Amino acid sequence: MSLPQLRPRRSCLYAPGANAKALAKARELAADVLLFDLEDAVAPEAKIEARGAVIGALKGGGFGRKEALARINALSTPWGGDDIAGLAEAAPAGLLAPKVNSGEDVLALDELMSEAGYAPSCALWVMIETPLALLNIKEIAAASKRTRLAAFVMGTNDLAKDLRARQTGDRAAFQFALSVTVAAARAYGLVAVDGVYNDIPNTEGFIDVCRQGVTLGFDGKTLIHPSQIEPCNALFAPSAAEVEEARAVIAAFAASENAGKGVLKVNGKMTELLHLDEAKRLVAVSEMIEGAA
Ligand code: COA
Ligand code: MG
Repeated sequence: MSLPQLRPRRSCLYAPGANAKALAKARELAADVLLFDLEDAVAPEAKIEARGAVIGALKGGGFGRKEALARINALSTPWGGDDIAGLAEAAPAGLLAPKVNSGEDVLALDELMSEAGYAPSCALWVMIETPLALLNIKEIAAASKRTRLAAFVMGTNDLAKDLRARQTGDRAAFQFALSVTVAAARAYGLVAVDGVYNDIPNTEGFIDVCRQGVTLGFDGKTLIHPSQIEPCNALFAPSAAEVEEARAVIAAFAASENAGKGVLKVNGKMTELLHLDEAKRLVAVSEMIEGAA
């Protein structure tokens, strides 16, 4: 329907809906996005109370520049439909839906959101975390043309379980899933957010997988602990060198002596018009991050 608004989504922190302390603390943290979770982080017996707590946290506001979303339960569970209906009054920035398998699933979620009275500006983000979602990824992404779908979030823990894959440091088993998800996101103008890293004290390992995510083209990463925010923000922000290079590309194409040219040499590198859009996007995101700092 509409392109997701350009803004930094480097760090997307999950906070369990059943953990009042985490919900309150999340407000103070420097994540770009908060994902208040009603799904995997909440036990079945705590689902309804957690929904109430998340509605309360969202209504309480005070998120500053952060986007606050809620992750709902799947529609195939006893809670998914009521999550959508109940959260409408709390006006989250969006809903994150798990276990999406097809374009039809996206249409169904979008329809339920419209019926429940969500503003058109309230986005739908979906988890890519099932083998079927990988096989149907184009159809899922294409559903964004008719719906409020705005972002893909990798669910690597669920994928590992369903694929019977091993979670190694190099994420060898996930390269196809990660790449095909970024490709589909880019083809349809969606945001792409990488999966979580479970080993909280292992900062080195975390930095390695953040770098992998950046290399693959992800906009940011989902996080499970406050200690992961700072390194993630730093690694997913355009580096000073990248911004400098992007500014040089923009300046070169704007120079009167280069008017009408499609290809130039900038700092010794072949630079084509195709690099200009990405340079402009990178500078814009960097300025937003600087402005927020
Ligand atoms: N969001 C906000 N605050 C969090 C947080 C989170 N995800 N994880 C921890 N905190 C807070 C704790 O409440 C604690 O606050 P305090 O200093 O005011 O007491 C502080 O950060 C330090 O937490 P720590 O003691 O190191 O961790 P923990 O043992 O309390 O919690 C987890 C560990 C894994 C249970 C917790 O980090 C968590 O629930 N993470 C999110 C899990 C999730 O949502 N999973 C679903 C998606 S995969
Ligand atoms: Mg999950």
